[in-house]
Formats: sequence, structure tokens, C-alpha cells
Amino acid sequence: MNHIFYKGEDSSRPTLLLLHGTGGNEHDLVGLGKEIDAAASILSVRGNVLENGMPRFFKRLAEGVFDLEDLQLRTEELKRFIDDAAVKYEIDRDNIVAIGYSNGANIAANLLFEFENVLKGAILHHPMVPRRGVEILEMQETPVFIGAGKNDHMCPATESEDLRELLQGVGAEVELYWHAYGHQLTQDEVQAAKRWYQSKF
Ligand code: MLT
Repeated sequence: MNHIFYKGEDSSRPTLLLLHGTGGNEHDLVGLGKEIDAAASILSVRGNVLENGMPRFFKRLAEGVFDLEDLQLRTEELKRFIDDAAVKYEIDRDNIVAIGYSNGANIAANLLFEFENVLKGAILHHPMVPRRGVEILEMQETPVFIGAGKNDHMCPATESEDLRELLQGVGAEVELYWHAYGHQLTQDEVQAAKRWYQSKF
């Protein structure tokens, strides 16, 4: 997968796995990653699917309606990519925290659903429930931050609340942060994610 890797100053910090939103690329969230943890290594990936020229991490049938078969294949592909990158860049595989926005947050949530110990934690900005009605693996207190907007039409409030419940139901430690706006990532949300991250890692 197309990606960039920056080695951080402090190898004891988590490596931040950055996953962009629809139409983004591996450069988009680097500033966000540095704001969250300036000393951490960064592994930022571009989704392999193109929707009318816009990179994504998996196909969708319509806005908010996911191609579940593709989601599964792409989640496995991303998992393999992370495993291989950890060897290539000598990253501690057990100390990777994902930061995803929108489509990137959705595939990060699905990584957590499908694979045990795949991430040390996750910051999910404006995610949805990636799959419903499936069994989810136990997560042993994995810390997860969800950032959501009260007026996010792409991602209604029930998506954030249901995702929190599903994750908590399998043992994750979830903080749900609300802002009063839409699908955009606000500065307040970033600062809330940073405080949460500093308290957990
Ligand atoms: C998705 O397709 O993952 C969500 O609708 C959000 C997005 O468009 O990125």
C-alpha cells in the first residue's frame, strides 16, 4: 500500500497509524499525528480503492452503505500491511495506535472488530459501525476515543452511540466526545483526543 513512514524521536512512544478519509491520501493526517504525539513514529497509509478518483480504504455501494465483502478483504490487506511494515521499519508491533478520520476510522474500527490485539488503541474521528449483527472479538480494555458531531449528517448520532456500545460490550474502554457541528474535524475535538491520548499512553 502507498504510505509514508517517519521515525519518531522516542521509540518507546506508540507508532501512530494514520488512516485518511474519502478523497484523502497518506499526507493528510500527518499534521494531526504530530499534534497528538510529536515524538511518536508515524505510519500513514493511502487506501487502495478509488471511487471516482478518490482514494478510500474499501468500496461502498452508496453513501454510508458499505460493500461488506470488500470491507473484509481490505481489512485483511491492511492488517497484513501493518504486520509487514512493523518488520520493515522495526516498529514495536504491539504498540501501534490508529488515528482514523471518517472512512479511515471505519476501517480502523473494523480492524478492531476482526483481529485480536491488532491495535494498542484507536482514535476514531467520525466513525460509523462498520458491520452489524456479527460477533466481535474480546478487546481486553483496549482504549478507544470516538469523536462525533451532533449535526453530522454523514454519520448520525446513533452510529457513534452504537459503536461505543458494541466496543464496550467486548471490553474496550471507550470515550465518546461530542461537538455541536457536522462531519468536520474541529480543533476542540483534536485537543480532546490529545488529552485522552496523553492520559492513556
Ligand atoms: C464511509 O464510506 O466510510 C463513510 O461514509 C464515510 C466516508 O465517506 O468517508
